[in-house]
Amino acid sequence: MSDQHFDLILRGGICVLPWGEAAADVGVRHGRIAAIGLPATATAERVLAARGLHVLPGVIDPHVHLRDPGDAAVESIPTGTRAAVLGGVTTVFDMPNTTPAIIDAERLAWKQDYVERVAWCDMGLYVGATKSNVPELAALERGRGVCGIKVFAGSSTGDLLVEDDASLERVMRSGRRRISYHSEDEYRLQARRGDFHAGMPYAAHMDWRDEECAFLGTRRLLALAQASGRPAHLLHVSTAEELAYVADWRDLVSVELLVNHLTQMAPDAYDRLGGFAVMNPPIRGARHMAAAWAAVRDGSVDTIGSDHAPHPRAAKLKPWPDCPAGLTGVQTLLPVMLDHVNAGRLPLGRMVDLMCAGPARVYGVVGKGRLAVGWDADFSLVDLRRQRVIEESWIASPCGWTQFAGMRVTGWPAATIVRGHVVMQDDTVLGTPQGRLARFR
Ligand code: DOR
Ligand code: ZN
Repeated sequence: MSDQHFDLILRGGICVLPWGEAAADVGVRHGRIAAIGLPATATAERVLAARGLHVLPGVIDPHVHLRDPGDAAVESIPTGTRAAVLGGVTTVFDMPNTTPAIIDAERLAWKQDYVERVAWCDMGLYVGATKSNVPELAALERGRGVCGIKVFAGSSTGDLLVEDDASLERVMRSGRRRISYHSEDEYRLQARRGDFHAGMPYAAHMDWRDEECAFLGTRRLLALAQASGRPAHLLHVSTAEELAYVADWRDLVSVELLVNHLTQMAPDAYDRLGGFAVMNPPIRGARHMAAAWAAVRDGSVDTIGSDHAPHPRAAKLKPWPDCPAGLTGVQTLLPVMLDHVNAGRLPLGRMVDLMCAGPARVYGVVGKGRLAVGWDADFSLVDLRRQRVIEESWIASPCGWTQFAGMRVTGWPAATIVRGHVVMQDDTVLGTPQGRLARFR
């Protein structure tokens, strides 16, 4: 076989390389990037025309809740990963708060096997910490495809909760990898729950789970993390105060922001969307959104996720506090972020750092997150100029809704390629599920 013959060539696109943009053809062989920059004479089994498109490393959504096992009527691994590839995402990290939760070797083994039979994109699997599985966490975090341990330090959907200092310390001393935290202070949440009652507007959600809940949780977690020396990843940081505070902790702490917190704010979101704005930690006001954007620009954020957490439409229509917390987003993550790029809120290269290289760096993913020879042939091809309205008819998740319905965006995923397999082109899913467990250092 000639040196210049490939399984797949992406021809005519603009590659977003680690050091900048360059017009270059990409050659793929055996699921990996074999060459960047090809002679016109190069040949392939399949050539994909990428003229007018930007070729990004495959986008990683490091924060999804695919509800499998538990609630396939809302989402499952087959449907959620299908939604991912329609949205230009090539890898998702799936949260453990399913029914039942992924908290032991048996359930993890079931999921490892199941994923590689049904997933459309690659996956990392979270294992949940509980007060009783601490002795097993060190072994579980080394499991195949495991992206890390998730700790709910404040209660949210499901019953996973590790809130007290002694239990958190035991979790932190249990293994070595970076631990991911849902950081809201459970004591303050409980103490103030009685001040809020049925009949209040949806925005009461953000008053109950206020800035102080988030800040107290984060301050306490970071003190414990420092004492144990265990690195922490703070999921969905939502306040200006936390962002200012973590600046002094960069040796130990990495930071995730959510596209929801960068796009929607109070009071407008609650007025317009009602229960479809309710999530944990909550959508907050303009001051916090401004701090989040400043953090994106000053480099102090590591990853951006969707926190795709579908619930039935009928449940989301219930009045507060009966509507469950959680929004959708795996399919809309990239289009909404591309729209932010086009609006001048961040450069495309910074977006790629946050959505490709960032998750790879924070979680220690092997072979993903950048366009480079020898790396996985995961690509998100995007049309930066394409204008579209996000419509619920496009949403593949069985829940059928998105809080971004009606939003006009500029920038749209044109094709999704997972380890050399073209699994989406022009809003159509192609072939058969090719997802594998991602590999971690
Ligand atoms: O809003 C949320 N929904 N926040 C979480 O922490 C969990 C998620 C869910 O699973 O519904
Ligand atoms: Zn979440």
